[in-house]
Amino acid sequence: MPQNPIPLSAFAMPRHVAIIMDGNGRWASARGLPRGEGHRRGVEALRKTVRAAGEMGISYLTIFSFSAENWSRPSSEIRDLMGLLRRFIRNDLAELHQSRVKVRVIGERDDLAPDIRQLLEEAEELTKGNDRLTLVVAFNYGARQEIARAAARIAVKINAGEIEPSAMTADLIGQNLDAPDLPDPDLIIRTSGEQRLSNFLLWQAAYSELVFVPTYWPDFDRAALEGAIAEYHRRERRFGGLIAQTGS
Ligand code: IPE
Ligand code: IPE
Ligand code: MG
Repeated sequence: MPQNPIPLSAFAMPRHVAIIMDGNGRWASARGLPRGEGHRRGVEALRKTVRAAGEMGISYLTIFSFSAENWSRPSSEIRDLMGLLRRFIRNDLAELHQSRVKVRVIGERDDLAPDIRQLLEEAEELTKGNDRLTLVVAFNYGARQEIARAAARIAVKINAGEIEPSAMTADLIGQNLDAPDLPDPDLIIRTSGEQRLSNFLLWQAAYSELVFVPTYWPDFDRAALEGAIAEYHRRERRFGGLIAQTGS
């Protein structure tokens, strides 16, 4: 047996990468531009990142696009952000579909404008048979709210007598989240230098590696993604266990 072999998994691509796309406003302010311009440039960074993730063989890419708490921003900014989502789906859906990207959406849809709900459904429906990259759009998403939704779904089943309260397990909660079939993120990247989760994937992040990069989101690109993945490869994931030992 070789001494201290590096486990094969150290070179494996993270299967699921999630990104908190932050810093659009600061990117714009630093250039004397309106915040909306930062958001527009952020969509371009998103396009590049989706393309790069597909080419790099990442299977799932989750992007935090609008948080449940972002409603507290000025209404003009909310209008800008909703407009950008509309435009992103209208302009990019055909290309995403052609690249065999499967679109999924997590978050509370009931509070969204009917046309946005319809666009999100259309994106999911059109791309549901695709098998390359799964792009998970977290929109009007908050992790605490998602966990509450899971609890409510379970409560309905308990009320209906379909399951016993004693069947409540962590797995059962996981199975009732918004996209229960997705693997947990291996890597969560946050741009802009902030080091917090801001209510993103709290349940699923239990054993994710967190990488914080100073880059503002509009400047994020393939090289930045590769840099974050290189950092991920330097981490040692233990999941509460011990590192694989040789010769024992
Ligand atoms: C991220 O950029 C986009 C959203 C939260 C929708 P921000 O708008 O949060 O930019 P900063 O953090 O103010 O720079
Ligand atoms: C998190 O960024 C939400 C998104 C990136 C969509 P925020 O900019 O809203 O987070 P805080 O307010 O700095 O924690
Ligand atoms: Mg921010």
